[in-house]
Amino acid sequence: MKKIFPDGFLIGGATASFQFEGGFGEDGHLPSSHDYETNGSPEHPRHHTMKLPDGTIVKPESSFIDAQDVPMDAEPVFLDDEYYPSHKAVDFYHHYKEDIKLMAEAGFNVYRFSISWSRIFPTGEEEQPNEAGLAFYDKVLTELEKYQIQPLITICHDEMPMPLALKYDGWNSRKVIDLYVKYAKVLFERFGKRCKYWLTFNEINAVRGFGPTGVHKASGLDRYQAAHNMFVASAKTVKMGHEMMPGSMFSTMYALSTVYPASCKPEDVFHVQQQLRENWYFVDTMGRGAYPSYANAILQHHGIDFDQLDITDEDRKILKEGQLDFISFSYYRSNTVKAGDKWFNVGGSPNPYLETTPWGWGVDPLGLRYTMNMVYDRIQKPIFIVENGMGAIDEPDENGYVEDDYRIKYMNDHLLAMTEAINNDGVECLGYTMWGPIDLVSLSTGEMKKRYGIIYVDMDDLGNGSLKRIPKKSFAWMKEVIASRGEKL
Ligand code: BG6
Repeated sequence: MKKIFPDGFLIGGATASFQFEGGFGEDGHLPSSHDYETNGSPEHPRHHTMKLPDGTIVKPESSFIDAQDVPMDAEPVFLDDEYYPSHKAVDFYHHYKEDIKLMAEAGFNVYRFSISWSRIFPTGEEEQPNEAGLAFYDKVLTELEKYQIQPLITICHDEMPMPLALKYDGWNSRKVIDLYVKYAKVLFERFGKRCKYWLTFNEINAVRGFGPTGVHKASGLDRYQAAHNMFVASAKTVKMGHEMMPGSMFSTMYALSTVYPASCKPEDVFHVQQQLRENWYFVDTMGRGAYPSYANAILQHHGIDFDQLDITDEDRKILKEGQLDFISFSYYRSNTVKAGDKWFNVGGSPNPYLETTPWGWGVDPLGLRYTMNMVYDRIQKPIFIVENGMGAIDEPDENGYVEDDYRIKYMNDHLLAMTEAINNDGVECLGYTMWGPIDLVSLSTGEMKKRYGIIYVDMDDLGNGSLKRIPKKSFAWMKEVIASRGEKL
């Protein structure tokens, strides 16, 4: 079977501003909803640090669905004895030239990055954008152009200006729709001629809590209302983007690591079909431009009625008009579920047939091919794999060199599965961007030691280190694979 990447295939890496950029408070930047989040570990979840009106400090958990219940009247605070990883991240803000040069050396022809909303509209509600914030991304784009690397811009990767989270309860408010569209318009005016591919949101189907969506309680009706408001914001933005930038291509991004039935018991198989609809609800609505027939069944599963959502006729119209051009998603792993289990967006029980990463993520390359086929069969629009990779503990030698054969194996097997989906199964796939080509801060745990990169960054979990960038063994491997357009897999 042919392993070759198709003509015009985009291959490169992906990052998110709060995990990669640093530059906290520089050039007019104000805190985003992730900037009050501490570091953590699998055993000790990250949390926001907040002060209640009576002065009590609380540390509500923040990252994931149903884990957060931040009181509306709490104020965020920074504490001296906590480390907030987004402030420095790995300092792309000051290393962008060197970092983009390394990406070019690896042979990347696409780089997915997110723009920090808080750099452009620091409080979210200014009349005029912050010129210094825009200027930073101009410089990044100029650097990419130097090496003919296409940008793939995520307009909102799991964060927003903190005042919007506090004042409006984030995406729970329709007000935020207008503020987001205004922000997107500024990006299109400024960067529209330099960028063809845009993602409106990251992992929209996760509807994570306070840090990512600004929503104080991301469950029940709040969760689905926030999702609806994001659908409308995305559709308005897609429509506007098509008008302002003819030929531009839009997607939103979905977390689509998959699940299998724990057994062939019909109840387990049926459970998987139902649970997957929790994700299809997001893919179908935005990919086909209307809520699916099973929408009410999803909400009823969570004890609410679809009719309780605030959806206007105008909203339904814009959902039709602002459909996505392609479907992009992250894929890392697969899990199993059985009848009676809680529904997960991503997650479930380990699959006994799979090996796992040190963070317990089941390694399943065939699951990527399976997911590519499912998405393409369903929506019949091109797909784009915009996150995939292996979080692992790297042990550098005295020169900082890492022999990461485990990562090479993971990526080799996933890329192979991808080429099989393309060349054998007929899936139209625009590209692949590996997650975190240069080591960055983990979203779920806030650690540095969970590394994805083909380039090592000398920095520990508390931000100590020289920040030196050192290509790993996987860098040379990736370079060969790209240069051979997949033949070396
Ligand atoms: C996706 C996110 O969920 O997975 C990224 O879009 C994130 O922001 C990535 O970093 C990997 O997850 P983690 O928790 O290992 O960083």
